[in-house]
Amino acid sequence: MMMMMPSTTPTHSTVDTTFKGLPQPAKQTSQLPLYVFAQLSVLKQAVRESGISLVDLGMGNPDQPTPSLIIETMAQAVANPENHFYPDFDGKPSFRQAIASFMHRRHGIEGLNADTQVQPLIGSKEGIANLILGYLDADSVCLVPSLYYPVYMRATAVVSGTPYYMPLLEENDFLPDLDAIPADVLAKAKLLLLNYPNNPTGREAPRWFYEKAVAFARQHGLVLVSDLAYGEIAYDGFKPLSIFEIEGAMDVAIEFHSFSKTFNMAGFRLGFAVGNAEIIKVLYKAKTTIDYGVCNAIQDGGTVALNNAETLVPPIVAEYQKRRDYLVPQLKALGWDCTLPKGGFYLWLKVPPCFEGSSYAWVEFLMKRTGVVVTPGLAFGKDGDNYFRVSLVSPVETLKEAIKRLCEADIHYEMALPV
Ligand SMILES: Cc1ncc(COP(=O)(O)O)c(C=O)c1O
Repeated sequence: MMMMMPSTTPTHSTVDTTFKGLPQPAKQTSQLPLYVFAQLSVLKQAVRESGISLVDLGMGNPDQPTPSLIIETMAQAVANPENHFYPDFDGKPSFRQAIASFMHRRHGIEGLNADTQVQPLIGSKEGIANLILGYLDADSVCLVPSLYYPVYMRATAVVSGTPYYMPLLEENDFLPDLDAIPADVLAKAKLLLLNYPNNPTGREAPRWFYEKAVAFARQHGLVLVSDLAYGEIAYDGFKPLSIFEIEGAMDVAIEFHSFSKTFNMAGFRLGFAVGNAEIIKVLYKAKTTIDYGVCNAIQDGGTVALNNAETLVPPIVAEYQKRRDYLVPQLKALGWDCTLPKGGFYLWLKVPPCFEGSSYAWVEFLMKRTGVVVTPGLAFGKDGDNYFRVSLVSPVETLKEAIKRLCEADIHYEMALPV
């Protein structure tokens, strides 16, 4: 006869089903301001649902396809089982060599050590964030330009570091005034962030400014971070400088490059950092805590891209130039004081005086009236709140539609406050 043993497994009725709720997220995360682009997405959705079609000149997402040479290379590389393993943390030697060769051909940087002074990245945003995590302590300061690419401020906040905002003002050609940074701030500062050609203003940094920044970083024991994401998007013969074209920079600097803009590869997530080997090591250490490096097949795409940059990049830039040359005179005719940017793919414009200090309200008004989407300057810091950004990542036909809608709604720079 079979003996029935008492079960030791608790039945459902014996499990305590009390739900205490989830823990609070870290203070640093919950205190992060809402990403303005996320807020805009909600607004865009609401406007669409109200039956208005959108003409989106807001995001900085390149609209042209990745060149076919790069796509074909990556497609073959994806099929190759050798690329199916975890990538090496420091990337493929062939890719690192291509980076060093590009820096030599394009910027004249000689003797860059592809093993110690080059780091492949899953997009430059990842690298900038990891560098900030690698350097900042809770009580240290990050010198952030204001106007900024949001990751500068957000990554600083995540490690409870303190951003010190250096205003980028029109009267200073959108360059920060390094001499205005107080001594007590400098004593705690570790990183000095710069981004030229600049997002959102499209302005460039002259050589004298870079020379000053390198000298300043050396003198104050700072890491100079040059974000060169738009380094290849330049017009009228202008060739943006690498920070390493400045003497003494290799002692203190790191520079971030992106394939997103240069080769229309935003969706593939690829970038690289070059610079001082000690600084690269700090970036590497932070990175290896978080990720496994760049997909091998995408690195092969990056290698062919860099090795063919001289032929692949000019048609991409020519298309942006065509758009810039269409849009700037149109906006001038509507009363906007609009300078031709020499780099990047943005126009940085003042909000109409009746919306002064209220860039979000202006953007909301424009979108609801016309369906035209632009980015409020506030997205780049409070120093941007009198401005808005227009992206050139749509074809001329779309830009024409935007201008047509502005004209039909009688929207121009000197317009009166709508009732
Ligand atoms: C100034 C600046 N830096 C860095 C990035 C990040 O680019 P990615 O991560 O695609 O290389 C962007 C993207 O828009 C940018 O505008």
